[in-house]
Amino acid sequence: MRLLSVRLIVSLIIGITLVSLAFSYHQVLRERKSLRGDLERRAEVLGESFAVNVERSLESPSPEGLQRLVDSFGSRERLLGVAVYDPQGTPLAVSSPLAQSLGIAPTEVTRALSTNREQSSFVTLDKNRVHIFALPLHRREQIVGGLALLHDVDYIRAQNLRTWRQAFLGILIQVFLIVFITLLIVRWSIAGPIARAAQWMRALRMGRISSPQQMPDLDLFKPLAWEVVTFAESLNQARNAAENEARLREAGQSLWTADRLAIQIQARLHGSRLFVVSNREPYIHQRNGKSIEVSVPASGLVTALEPVLNACDGTWIAHGSGDADPEVVDAHDRLRVPPDDPRYTLRRVWLSKEEEEGYYYGFSNEGLWPLCHIAHTRPVFRQRDWELYQDVNRKFAGAVLEEIADTSNPILLVQDYHFALLPRLIKEKRPDARVAIFWHIPWPNVEAFGICPWQRQLLDGLLGADLIGFHIQSHCNNFLQTVDRAMESRIDAEHFAVLRQNHRTVVRPFPISVELCDDDPSDDARYGTDYEERSGLLHSLGVDSAFLGIGVDRVDYTKGIHERFRAIERFLEKYPRYQGQFTFIQIGAPSRTHIKRYHDLLAEIEAEAERINWRFQTAGWKPILFLKRQHSHQEIEAYYRAADLCLVTSLHDGMNLVAKEFLAARKDERGVLILSQFTGAARELHDALLVNPYDIDQTAEAIRSALEMGPEEKRMRVHRMRKIIRENNIYRWAGNLVTELCELQVDNAYRERRARQRGTATSA
Ligand code: G6P
Repeated sequence: MRLLSVRLIVSLIIGITLVSLAFSYHQVLRERKSLRGDLERRAEVLGESFAVNVERSLESPSPEGLQRLVDSFGSRERLLGVAVYDPQGTPLAVSSPLAQSLGIAPTEVTRALSTNREQSSFVTLDKNRVHIFALPLHRREQIVGGLALLHDVDYIRAQNLRTWRQAFLGILIQVFLIVFITLLIVRWSIAGPIARAAQWMRALRMGRISSPQQMPDLDLFKPLAWEVVTFAESLNQARNAAENEARLREAGQSLWTADRLAIQIQARLHGSRLFVVSNREPYIHQRNGKSIEVSVPASGLVTALEPVLNACDGTWIAHGSGDADPEVVDAHDRLRVPPDDPRYTLRRVWLSKEEEEGYYYGFSNEGLWPLCHIAHTRPVFRQRDWELYQDVNRKFAGAVLEEIADTSNPILLVQDYHFALLPRLIKEKRPDARVAIFWHIPWPNVEAFGICPWQRQLLDGLLGADLIGFHIQSHCNNFLQTVDRAMESRIDAEHFAVLRQNHRTVVRPFPISVELCDDDPSDDARYGTDYEERSGLLHSLGVDSAFLGIGVDRVDYTKGIHERFRAIERFLEKYPRYQGQFTFIQIGAPSRTHIKRYHDLLAEIEAEAERINWRFQTAGWKPILFLKRQHSHQEIEAYYRAADLCLVTSLHDGMNLVAKEFLAARKDERGVLILSQFTGAARELHDALLVNPYDIDQTAEAIRSALEMGPEEKRMRVHRMRKIIRENNIYRWAGNLVTELCELQVDNAYRERRARQRGTATSA
C-alpha cells in the first residue's frame, strides 16, 4: 500500500508539473508576443512623429540643430536613442550614448533607404537585445536620409522571467494541494473500503465469516462488490458441500445433493428429458393493482419437486391457477422459472371454472382425498365431477404429448391423485415413454377404496404406468390388494408388481423428504442468536411466555388440528403450573375453502382456539395463537427455530413434511417433535414422541414430556432424526424414483417402430 502511495504521488507530481509547464510556456510565449507587438507599434508611432521633425530640420542644414533635436528626443522612456543618416548611410546625428554603436548605419537603415519602406527587427547590439525601427526621410518625394530608433527590450525578458517565477510557484502550490486531496480521497473512499473488504475476504477464506451478505460497503466499486459477494457465496456453498461430503465419507455414506442428482439424472436420461405433471404449479402470478406478484403455494409437493426440476432443467406441466398467469407465458403457454434464477420450464394448462370445480374441488378433493385419508369425512362422488375429472386428465394428456413430442424415450413423473388416468392416456400414445406416478397421499385398505364407484377405471389408468410410488410399504400393500380384488390381473408378490394386458407395473415405496442444509453457517449470521430471534418473534406477536409450541398445516380436516387444540387444553388442565407459561402458535394456511367442509373447518378451528383461550387466558397471555394465513418458508423457519416443541397430529397423512422441515430447521439440535403415529413420517422418525392424536390424554402427556425432557436427551433424539433426514433427503427420493424408472424394462414395440420410421426417413 505504501509503495502504491509513493508511485501515485510521484506520478501525480510529474503529471501536474508537465501539464503546468506546458501551460506556463504557452503563456510566456503569448505574453512576449504581445509585449513585442506593443513595442513595435510604439516605435512606429514615435518614429513617424519624429521623422516629421527631422525632415523639417534637414531643410535648413544645421548639424548642431539636428544633434540637439536627436538628443532631446532620445531621452524618452525605454528609448535607447535615435540616429539620423544621409542617403548613403553616413550618420548625420546620433544620440550621444549610442554614438559609438550607431557610427555605421544598421542593416535596417540601409534596407529602409534601398526599399523606401519602414524596417523593424529585434537584434543584439553590443551584447544587448534591442529593437531597431528604421524609416526613410523625404523631401518632396525624394529620399533625403534615414532615421533609426532603438528601444531597450530587456523589460520584456524581465517580464517573462516574472511570469515563469509565478508559474513555478503556482505549480508548487497546485502539486501540493492536488496530492494532498488525492491522498485523502484515496484513503477515505478507496483504500479504506478495499482494506475492509480484504479483511472481510481473509476472514471468509479462513471460515470466520459466514454470511456473504455482510460484505462491507464498497461505495465506488458496486459491480466489483457484487461479484465478490457472488464469488463468496459460491465459495461458501462449495466449502459446505465439501465438508458435507467429507463428513459423510467418514461415516461411510454418500450424501445426495442437488449436484449429484443432476449428474445421476443426466446419466440415466441418456440424452432424454424429464417431465413432471402436477395439478399445483410451483409459481403463481397474481395481479395486485397494476403490478404482478409471484408466490409459491403452500404445498408439500411443490417443496419436494422444485429441487428436482432445478437440478435437471426439465419441464413442469401444471394448472395455471393465478389470475395473472396467462399474462406472463409465451405463445406456447410456457415460461422459465424460478423467476429470479430460471432453471426449468413451466408449461401452464388452463382450466375453465367448471373444469376446476368438478375435477379439482369435486372429484379430487371431495372424492378421492377423503376416500384415501381415513379421517371420517365422507367422500362425495358425483357423476358430473367424474366426467370432468376424465376431461381434465385428457386435457393434461394433450399438453404432455405436445411437450414430449420431440423427445424420444421421455421420462414422465406424474404427481398425485389428480391424475390417476394420465399414465394410461400417455402410454397409449407414447409407449416409449417411461411413466411413473407418485401418489402423495395414503392408499387405504381394499374395503375403503372399494366404495369409489369408478375404482376400476382409476386402477386401470394407474396401471398404465411403469412405476407407481407411495410413501410407505403399507400403502403399496394396500394398493396391490385393491388391484388383486378389483381387477383381472396377476400380482407378482415377490417383486411387488402387477402384470396386466402384457404390461408390467412395479409398485414401490419412496419416502419423500426435504433438503437439510445443516452446514450453512450463514444462517447464524442471518438470524442472530436463537435467544434474540425467539424473543423478537414473541415480542412481535405480543406473547410473553416461557415455553413455545408450534404447529404448521394447511387447514385440512386430516391434520387433526381440533385434536391438537384439545390436547393443549387437557395439558393446561392437568398441569396448571404451565398456565401463563406455555403458548402454542398454530400457523394455518387456508386451503380449498371453496369446499364447504374446508370453509366450515376454518371457522370451527378459530372458534375452538377462542374457546380454549377464553378459558385460560390472562391479561398478558394466551394459550393458543391461530395465525390464519399463508406464511413464507423463511417465516415458518423462524417459528420452527424458536419453538420448544412441534406438534404434528394428522389423523392420517401420506408422509407429512412439516415433521421433517421442523427437524431440518433445528441445527441447534434442540426442540422436540410430537408426531402422529398415522403419518408416513412416523415410520422413519422413531425418536419423535409418537402419539395417537385421537388419544387426547396421551398427546397432553407428550406435551409435558417434551417440555420437561432433559437437554441431552433432546439433543440425541434430534441428532438421530436429522441424520435420517440428511441421508434420506429429497434428492435421494428423486434419484431413487428416476433410477428405478429408468432401469425398468419398458415396452419396446413403439420404440422399434419409431426407430424404423426414423431409419426410413433418413434413407429417404
Ligand atoms: C397434499 C397433496 C398435494 C397437494 C397438497 C396441497 O399434500 O398430496 O398434492 O399439493 O396437499 O393441496 P392443494 O390442493 O392446495 O394443492
